[in-house]
Amino acid sequence: MKSFSIIVKKKINKFNKSIFVPGDKSCSIRYFFLASLAYGLSTATGILESGDVFSTVKAMRKLGVRIVKKNNTWLVWGNGLNSLTTRDNISIDCENSGTLSRFILSILSTYPQRIKVYGDRSLNKRPMDRIMNPLEKLGAFFQTKKKVKRTLPCYITGSEMPIKIDHEEKIGSGQIKGGLILASLGCPGISTIKEFKNKQSRNHTEKMLKFAEPEIIKVKKFKNYNLISIKGQKDFKAFNLNVGGDFSSASFFILLTLLSKNSQLKIKSVNLNPTRLGALKILKKMGGKITLQNIKFQCGERIGDVAVKSSNLKSINCSASIVSLAIDEMPLIFLAASFANGISSFKACGELEKKESPRLSLMNKMLIQIGIRTKLKDRDSIKIYGNPNLNLNNKIYRIKTSYDHRLSMIGIVLGLTLGGKIIVEDCHSIVTSFPNFLNLMKQLGAKYEIIK
Ligand code: S3P
Repeated sequence: MKSFSIIVKKKINKFNKSIFVPGDKSCSIRYFFLASLAYGLSTATGILESGDVFSTVKAMRKLGVRIVKKNNTWLVWGNGLNSLTTRDNISIDCENSGTLSRFILSILSTYPQRIKVYGDRSLNKRPMDRIMNPLEKLGAFFQTKKKVKRTLPCYITGSEMPIKIDHEEKIGSGQIKGGLILASLGCPGISTIKEFKNKQSRNHTEKMLKFAEPEIIKVKKFKNYNLISIKGQKDFKAFNLNVGGDFSSASFFILLTLLSKNSQLKIKSVNLNPTRLGALKILKKMGGKITLQNIKFQCGERIGDVAVKSSNLKSINCSASIVSLAIDEMPLIFLAASFANGISSFKACGELEKKESPRLSLMNKMLIQIGIRTKLKDRDSIKIYGNPNLNLNNKIYRIKTSYDHRLSMIGIVLGLTLGGKIIVEDCHSIVTSFPNFLNLMKQLGAKYEIIK
C-alpha cells in the first residue's frame, strides 16, 4: 500500500449525528480461526474488512480452509480439529497483526510440520516469548534468530503428541489467553488457564467458543481469578455469527465528541462486552457524558448503542487493574487527560510499549510536541498535566506515528479538536483496523487533505 499523510487545518464544526462503526476486529479474527476448526459450514455477518482480518483469511486459506464472501456473509467450510493442511516449509505471513501471529503459532503447535511464520517490520519486533514459552510446554519447538527475547520470523514444528496446557496468564493478554484456548482444542484432556482479576483481558474467545459449543469451555469465577477449562480434541459444529461494531474504533469518535464543542453522537450496535469497556469507565470517571442504550445479547456478546455529548473533562488517577481492559484505548485516554482539568496519572502501562509501536513513548512525545507537560517514568507510568485552554495558534505540527494505525487516528482526532495545522504521517496504516475511518470523519463534517 502506498504511503500517505493527512493534513488537518481546521477544528471540526459542531455535529449531531448517528453512525455505525465497522465490526469488531478481535471477534472477526477469532471467527475465522474457530470456524476453520469447527465441523461444517459457518457463516458470519458484520465482519470487519480490514488489513489484519484479510491477513487472517489469507493465512487460513493457505492452511487449506475454504473461505468465500457471498453478499455480506463470510462463509467458512471447516473440517474439524486437526484438519488443516500443513506441509513442511510453507510460510505464513501475519503482516501487521499481533493477534494473527499469536493465534497461528498456537494452532500450529499441534501439527508436526516445520512452518515459517513471519510479519512486517513492526510485527517482527514484537515479543513472542509470551506465546512460545507456554507452547513449548505442550511440546512445540521454535527456531528463532535470537535465543532470548525471541521475535518473528520463526520456524515452528508442532508436537504430534501434545500434552495439555496448564497456564497462569500473568501479562493480562487477550492474545495469549485466546491463543492458548485455541491450542488447547488440539491437546488431549482438560487444559486450564488461570486469569487473575487484576489482569483481566478481553474474553471474546471464551464467548465465541461457548456460543459454538457450550460443552467445550467452562469459566469458573473465584475471588481473585477466573479458571478457564477447555476440553481438548472434541470436535464442535459450525456456527452462525453476527459481529457487533468495534468499541476500539468507536472510541476515536467518542473522544472526538467529548472534546468538541456543542456536539452529540450516537454510535449504533457496538460490541459492549464489559472486558472491552475500561476506557468507557475511565472517561465517565473523568466527567465524560456517555450513556449506553438499547442493550441486547447477540451470539453470546453484549451489543448496544453508545450516546456521547461534549463534556468538560477532569483529571484522573487511573488504577493499574483497569489498563488491560482499555489496552488499545490508553493512548486516547492520554489525549483526553491532556485537555482535562488537573494532573492525571497512569501506572502499569508498560504493555503499551509492546504494541504496533512503543505507544507510551510515542504518545508522550506527541503530547510534549503540542505543549503538554508530562512525566514519563520507566517506560511504565506517566503523569499528564492537563491544559483545557491549550491553543495551537495555527502553528504547523508534524506528528510521527511509526506506521501505527491507532496513533495515526489519534493524530487526526487531535487536529480536529485542537486546530493548528497538524500533519499526520503514515496514515495508510489505518487500513489495518479501520478502513472507513476517514469517510466517517467526513460524514461528521471533518475537513482534511491527503498528501501523497
Ligand atoms: C487483542 C488483544 C490485545 C489488543 C489487540 C487485540 C486480541 O493485545 O491490544 O489489539 O484480539 O486479543 P494483547 O493481548 O497483546 O494485550
